Amino acid sequence: SRSINLAVIPGDGIGQEVVAEGLKVLSAVLPQDVKLETKEYDFGAKRYHATGETLTDADLEQLKGHDAILLGAIGDPSVPSGVLERGFLLKLRFAFDHHVNLRPSKLLPGVATPLAGQPQIDFVVVREGTEGPYTGNGGTIRKGTAHEIATEVSVNTAYGVERVVRDAFERAQARPRKKLTLVHKNNVLTFAGHLWTNVFTKVAEEYPEVTTDYLHVDAATIFLVTDPGRFDVIVTDNLFGDIITDLAAAVSGGIGVAASGNINPSREFPSMFEPVHGSAPDIAGQGKADPTATVLSVALLLRHLGYESEADRIDTAVAADLTERAGKPARSTSEIGDALAVRVAG
Ligand code: IPM
Ligand code: MN
Repeated sequence: SRSINLAVIPGDGIGQEVVAEGLKVLSAVLPQDVKLETKEYDFGAKRYHATGETLTDADLEQLKGHDAILLGAIGDPSVPSGVLERGFLLKLRFAFDHHVNLRPSKLLPGVATPLAGQPQIDFVVVREGTEGPYTGNGGTIRKGTAHEIATEVSVNTAYGVERVVRDAFERAQARPRKKLTLVHKNNVLTFAGHLWTNVFTKVAEEYPEVTTDYLHVDAATIFLVTDPGRFDVIVTDNLFGDIITDLAAAVSGGIGVAASGNINPSREFPSMFEPVHGSAPDIAGQGKADPTATVLSVALLLRHLGYESEADRIDTAVAADLTERAGKPARSTSEIGDALAVRVAG
């Protein structure tokens, strides 16, 4: 019989609250014959303060044994900036080779957008997750002086670029519009830009049905606001992807509904699914956080593990819930989770 052995990392702040709702919906959507096993891990600010650890080799060994990871949010103002980001989140993405950072944006009916009218927004960003300026390849000399020099070298390998570009072509091929846009800045970042452009052009020959397009990242930010309907699948590097997916979330319902997957398509290591939002310490513990982004991340998790119809049921339930929300008083985190659990079960 089928089973899912899930690592659960609630983390800090609202991470605890939204993950509880994500699990509630996951349990409700799974058929009887699928055995769900969960193991909770205490990573985050508390553990860091108690032990000085963020993510040890022994932790990684344990995490490796799971089918997938569900993460709430890691980060707290009491921990210096960068410590948990590098020591936990990026360490995990790199250790498990999460090279496809998948971030869908869909503006669902009834959901508010700052854009004029109700534009058609339905695209997915395939953000490279293990290279670019995120590798920690840099340094500082003459630190703290007026002559300090800091470098942060963007690493781009033909292997790393080709595998993520291929993944994006596969996703574009599988979607009705079959369109893929490469976003980069090859007029200025000529070394990395040419590698990306050349690989993209070469792989495109194998996907004659996919329409391709190129945009500089600055121009892409304009179109994400003025004409988001032009996008279907976007592939881009780690840092550009970080920035444009926040913009994408902002125009398509906000971070309350923005889901993501840190995916290792080969399944050599478990993939990790998390809402795009952070730990929001300002509203933590008040039941105010919207668990929808986490619930949609659970749908991505299910799809990754091959539970297509269950993932679809979650997406449908979320769409219905969002439609019903308009004009009604705000519900608490657990009320939204309860409503979604009822919908996916029914
Ligand atoms: C994200 C976050 C992370 C990133 C930070 C917290 C390291 O902004 O998941 O988008 O830059 O990737
Ligand atoms: Mn980000």
